[in-house]
Amino acid sequence: MKLKHILSFLLHGKQRPVYAKITCIDSSNKLKGEKIVVTGGGRGLGASMAEKFVKEGAYVLIAGRNESVLKATADKIGCQYLTLDVSDVSAFDSFINKAEEMLGGITSLVNNAGISLHEKTFFDVTPDTFDAQVNTNMKGAFFLTQKVIKLWKEKNIKGEVLFISSETGDMMDFRPYGFTKVAVNSMVQGLAYLFAKDQIRINAVAPGVTISDMTGQRTDGNLYHKKNMLGRIYLPEEVAETACFLLSDAAGCISGQIITCNNAKSINARWK
Ligand SMILES: NC(=O)c1ccc[n+]([C@@H]2O[C@H](COP(=O)([O-])OP(=O)(O)OC[C@H]3O[C@@H](n4cnc5c(N)ncnc54)[C@H](OP(=O)(O)O)[C@@H]3O)[C@@H](O)[C@H]2O)c1
Repeated sequence: MKLKHILSFLLHGKQRPVYAKITCIDSSNKLKGEKIVVTGGGRGLGASMAEKFVKEGAYVLIAGRNESVLKATADKIGCQYLTLDVSDVSAFDSFINKAEEMLGGITSLVNNAGISLHEKTFFDVTPDTFDAQVNTNMKGAFFLTQKVIKLWKEKNIKGEVLFISSETGDMMDFRPYGFTKVAVNSMVQGLAYLFAKDQIRINAVAPGVTISDMTGQRTDGNLYHKKNMLGRIYLPEEVAETACFLLSDAAGCISGQIITCNNAKSINARWK
């Protein structure tokens, strides 16, 4: 038994290392020629999605606050990048103009940028933590989407918007992070209905607990995570597969849907 497994055993009792066998669908130009902006694409789920989209033939631009992180990821996966703070709505006009110029248009927007401040209790929530999460996860996504759809309507573009919600969007919470994801789910359905006749599709992926800086869990050979249904943490690549499908023409009849990637954990079951 390796040291990390012994440590894990000591921490989690009888728990044995948990591994995952996941399948990624072979690349087949499913997003050929698409011009996709991914906010928060420098790392985590956003970087994994951006990589998958590039492999599927899309032109991708990733955006975030940290230029060196963006550059490193863009160089690695072969895409473009631009700095953007999604909580600063005043920056959106110039961001969209520049992104359009760099990509030669925008056909899809992925609202992925998000923060979770993990306040320990209800009383640890402050006006500052509240505003930061609302402004990043909800207000930023709303107004960026508003700008992009306005552009599409002017140019008669039939685009797709994908929100990265969360399983918390379908559950109770006492922290603003959860509230923002409930709001995102409402937004997805409202906007999908509003723009269905313009053939603008709007969907969400709602991941369960997945490896990233946000959750602080890394792939170290043991994916044990007690609170997920399968007893393991999810991998960003699993989220990226679903995201790719939803952006592709194969999902052409799907809009207003929130695809929860947590193996039925948030089903309101009679027996638990
Ligand atoms: N990991 C999970 O278990 C999980 C589960 C459900 C939902 N999600 C959602 O998935 C999305 C991505 O999260 P993650 O897990 O990949 O977290 P992460 O590794 O912490 O990445 C967050 C990304 O968002 C960007 N970001 C944060 N604030 C920003 C701002 N104000 N402006 C622009 N970009 C900003 C970050 O880039 P910079 O710091 O460089 O700006 C980073 O690229 C979030 O919406 C999150 O709520 C994650």
